[in-house]
Amino acid sequence: MITTTSRPDFLHSEVTPKAHYLNRRRFLGGLAAAGLAFPSLAGTKFTGVVKSPLSTAEKPTSYDAVTKYNNFYEFGTGKDQPAETAQNFQTSPWTVVIEGEVAKPRILDLDAILKIAPLEERIYRHRCVEGWSMVVPWIGFPLSALIKLAAPSASAKYVAFQSYYDIRQMPQARYGGIPFPYVEGLRLDEAMNPLTLLAVGLYGETLPNQNGAPLRLVVPWKYGFKGIKSIVKIRFTAKQPPTSWSMANAREYGFYSNVNPRVDHPRWSQAKERRMGEFFKRDTLLFNGYADQVAALYSGMDLRKDY
Ligand code: MTE
Repeated sequence: MITTTSRPDFLHSEVTPKAHYLNRRRFLGGLAAAGLAFPSLAGTKFTGVVKSPLSTAEKPTSYDAVTKYNNFYEFGTGKDQPAETAQNFQTSPWTVVIEGEVAKPRILDLDAILKIAPLEERIYRHRCVEGWSMVVPWIGFPLSALIKLAAPSASAKYVAFQSYYDIRQMPQARYGGIPFPYVEGLRLDEAMNPLTLLAVGLYGETLPNQNGAPLRLVVPWKYGFKGIKSIVKIRFTAKQPPTSWSMANAREYGFYSNVNPRVDHPRWSQAKERRMGEFFKRDTLLFNGYADQVAALYSGMDLRKDY
């Protein structure tokens, strides 16, 4: 485990873009100066992280639950498996390919990705289609910042994401039961929504491997499976891209997957949820409580048909 500094987070008002840049440099420079190839940066503290006004005031779920109760089928289908079997997952060096209907296709390494925009802490509700939910203090930046950098062309209507996949590092994947590499997608306007986050950390530190290190998507008004982990490719497309879960079972999993208490999954009611750490179930909210920010994206659509 590597910690580079003991400096506490800045308060929102104290942070300048320069301070971000310098802290970012210190974080990454420290690693490079050590001259070592780190197989994983998991557990490295971030500094200079802005607290986002988009955070929920709800109490975050314990670090233990967030990092030990996971879905990451490449590392096994048991909730407790990824925390164990992803321990040695190699996440450094890491590159992300940006391609498709864009003016500026490119390959970015993690260092370049961390410089795209100031890092923010965003505390979001996280609702899985299986009926459990959490509140997670993510660290990341709006996906829109990366999209602007890529400059999508007029023909780009969707964004397709692909996870890293290597059976040698992920031997449990053979029992996953869904096609790999894991793929997901968003409509371009969903991807551009200010809530959509590219997360690089949680609880003040780089993402644990089991939570999708070094880089994953977080779309808080959609079911958790839209939050694709360990992203290696982002492709802009004219047509709606395939997604792993709808390829595995189209009747159960649609492209949109907006949290909707009125549309039940064929096997699970979506009306209520169990918040990890709580005993009684609570009502699930339309768009997971983010309706004010995202309902307009779907005006005129039948959300029963487009589930
Ligand atoms: N990404 C990949 N590559 N593989 C997966 O199996 N599972 C999804 C999503 N992203 C998954 C994935 C599902 S079903 C959920 S609920 C969330 O990750 C869980 O994220 P968490 O473990 O950080 O809570």
